[in-house]
Amino acid sequence: MIDIHSARTVDLPGVAAVMQEAFSDKMRVLVGRHPEKARALLEAAYAGPVSRGYDGLLVAERDGRVVGTLTLEPIYYTPQENRVLENTAIRELGLLRLLRASFLLWLIGHRPGEDEAYVSDVCVAPDCQGEGIGQLLLDYAEAWARDNDRSRMTLWVAATNDSAIHVYEKTGFEIVRTRSNLLTRLFFGIPRWHFKEKHLAASVVTYEYNDDADDRDGSPEPIL
Ligand SMILES: CC(C)(COP(=O)(O)OP(=O)(O)OC[C@H]1O[C@@H](n2cnc3c(N)ncnc32)[C@H](O)[C@@H]1OP(=O)(O)O)[C@@H](O)C(=O)NCCC(=O)NCCS
Repeated sequence: MIDIHSARTVDLPGVAAVMQEAFSDKMRVLVGRHPEKARALLEAAYAGPVSRGYDGLLVAERDGRVVGTLTLEPIYYTPQENRVLENTAIRELGLLRLLRASFLLWLIGHRPGEDEAYVSDVCVAPDCQGEGIGQLLLDYAEAWARDNDRSRMTLWVAATNDSAIHVYEKTGFEIVRTRSNLLTRLFFGIPRWHFKEKHLAASVVTYEYNDDADDRDGSPEPIL
């Protein structure tokens, strides 16, 4: 059985492992051939907000293993958390590689508005893909977005990522614009991106977001 819930600090090594594996191509471009550095940085990126109670990092867990994850932004960092993250990044990457990675992250990043639940880093462990876990994470993300009074969900996806686009379309996301980018083509081999959106205002079915650790059955509960 799959249990979807907000990440706790104890989940972060599993979250980092799934992200590193599912996005191994992007991670290689960002931090080089050092999966352990990528995992250390991913853990550090979430540690502060999660320990402070940020609940927009979702995990899919099966038999105690994190098998998928999804992030809902914006995420905010305190000045202290920013300093810790910077120090970890300098230690793991060195200053020059950190500057390069920051530029590349800026290239593929997005600055969401307050009314937006921006979906990023949706991923499922390669050996668990195609089992409906991505869909479950998106359903739970929608419940989170409604519970947090967001009027729309948004995301960027590479125009060549057929399986992700298929899941997003099944979930009700529509393309609102497409952009070409020479730099992401050069660095990541991704020349075109779709910005997709799902409006949440009027819907027949809403979901109850439940973050009670003792009452999780792995799926949102429809309320008619
Ligand atoms: C995208 C991703 C999160 C989907 O998760 P998942 O658990 O495999 O998704 P699901 O099992 O819920 O759904 C998979 C669907 O994609 C379909 N699919 C798989 N490969 C496909 C392809 N090449 N073209 C079109 N559809 C495809 C499956 O048939 C299935 O559809 P169905 O349920 O209608 O039969 C997962 O593949 C992944 O981690 N990819 C790598 C990271 C990534 O690219 N993330 C997206 C960043 S924007």
